[in-house]
Amino acid sequence: MPGAFTGRSKGDAVKDWYKAMAFYQIWIRSFYDGNNDGIGDLYGVYEKLEYIKSLGVDGIWFSPLYPSPNADYGYDISDYKNIHSDYGDLDIFKKVLDRAHELGLKVIMDLVINHTSDEHPWFIKSRQSRNNPYSDYYIWRDAKHGKLPNNWDSLLEGKAWEYCPERGQYYLHLFAKKQPDLNMDNPAVREEVKSIMRFWLDMGVDGFREDVINFISKADGLPNGNPFIPVANGMPYYKDGPHIHEYLGEFRQVAEEYDCFLLGEGPMTTTRSALSYLTGRHKTLDLMFHFEHMMADCFMTEYIRRPFSLVKLKKAFSKWQYELEGRAWNTLYLENHDHPRIISRYGDDKRFHRESGTMLAACYLFQQGTPFIYQGQEIGMTNIRLSSIEQYADVSSKNNYYRFHTKDPVTKRLERIYASSRDSARTPMQWDRSAHAGFSKVKPWFYVNPNYRKINVKSEEADEYSILNFYRKCLAYRKRSKVVLWGTYKEYCRTDNYIYMYERSYRGKKILVVCSFADHNIRWRLPRAFAHSRGKLVLCNYPVHTPHTLAPYEARVYEIRNVKDKANNRL
Ligand code: NOJ
Repeated sequence: MPGAFTGRSKGDAVKDWYKAMAFYQIWIRSFYDGNNDGIGDLYGVYEKLEYIKSLGVDGIWFSPLYPSPNADYGYDISDYKNIHSDYGDLDIFKKVLDRAHELGLKVIMDLVINHTSDEHPWFIKSRQSRNNPYSDYYIWRDAKHGKLPNNWDSLLEGKAWEYCPERGQYYLHLFAKKQPDLNMDNPAVREEVKSIMRFWLDMGVDGFREDVINFISKADGLPNGNPFIPVANGMPYYKDGPHIHEYLGEFRQVAEEYDCFLLGEGPMTTTRSALSYLTGRHKTLDLMFHFEHMMADCFMTEYIRRPFSLVKLKKAFSKWQYELEGRAWNTLYLENHDHPRIISRYGDDKRFHRESGTMLAACYLFQQGTPFIYQGQEIGMTNIRLSSIEQYADVSSKNNYYRFHTKDPVTKRLERIYASSRDSARTPMQWDRSAHAGFSKVKPWFYVNPNYRKINVKSEEADEYSILNFYRKCLAYRKRSKVVLWGTYKEYCRTDNYIYMYERSYRGKKILVVCSFADHNIRWRLPRAFAHSRGKLVLCNYPVHTPHTLAPYEARVYEIRNVKDKANNRL
């Protein structure tokens, strides 16, 4: 590891190889169907491992593969130590894992421990009575003055409490009704978590992405939240709760027995709270997903829209780059299974599909941190337009549709769902122009985006300037450039409404990344700091370019050299 900051703190035995890596995220149900039942599976993943490797990534993050009734597509787990029969079994998982390792790809699993499925045997027993070994595995409360135990909203489906007649009590669910929250204050529950971790680590997985991990410790007394907050009104009482570091410290100890790393998902986390997990003697996580840069066109959730603001996006990017510099390591992402497609949000999926898809790659892949690329992002998959709410599969899309703006005309409500639904990230992967986009030989479990004849892996493979090949170029450059891997970040022209420009510097070397978010030509100038510099263009998403004009959504990466002679100054 070079002499740059490697983030290792005292007592940190967990390795830091993840810093120089890039990950590919698989949401398996829609990735590739290897046994032709219309559902993506591990047989399909096995066939596509070489493709994943060819992108230039070094690891795979699997969204949940475990048995699940799929109320929240895998994030409602009914057996933590097995594979969903739709996706295969433990044997094929092991085969995928071994082959991935042979190819030099690490594999991390989703660890969803804030809640289970209501069909998990623990919950089935817990709901039966108030005095069995599982009674205290979940968060049960009596009604308060004939009403719900508190006023919290759930994040996916109505209020956060559901009544259970057998116990005559309510259980807490911060997410869907079929996702009861585990009681992490119960030491037996924490032992279960450790046993799950060991199960997969013993099999050879390389780490975990810990789902909504900053929510697992709830405030004593579960106080009422602010009733005027539209979503997540109870958040102050379950985010970064009183025992969070203690519990995560216990899980960290398990991880320290292995060569693995831990990545936490931190909804609504701030740099300050993230640093409390990522640094110091009590460091419990190596990386954290935050959401701030995903809010440049919305407020708190994609469902509450506002016009896209590049300045907001840049502010979020730079804030995390500056505040984690030398202290902790960033995660870099623009898409995952929880967000609509980025090109339909921050780019232009109609007139400038290729241009904006490639520019978006450049705008984040050269920042400091570990990048994540979500399946389909690398070919510029776009949002899908469905014609009725019944066609959507995602519980949160339905919740938003039926709960909010119900007096608006249906077309307007559907437009909001179109812009915000997680289902846009969950349509089958578009492999080629054949039926069902080459995802399966039979009708897939969910709608294929009708643009698959134009946007698919096969046709992009053949096009040197495709989004797919641009991702490859960016990832290859990242890998061989110490400046990209370890350099310090600095932003220029912060308030510009069209250009995002940043420098990375490392041991006297620099690169400059220039990205236009405009759908028309714009003039640009180098910042003064580069008055004595000469730049070599090393990457660009246009085959030809004009020195002082950026074409729509143009992206350039320059290697910068200092020159004495001002006359020679040019990029
Ligand atoms: C975050 C996951 O990414 C999302 O898909 C899920 O709905 C919630 N956590 C609940 O598990």
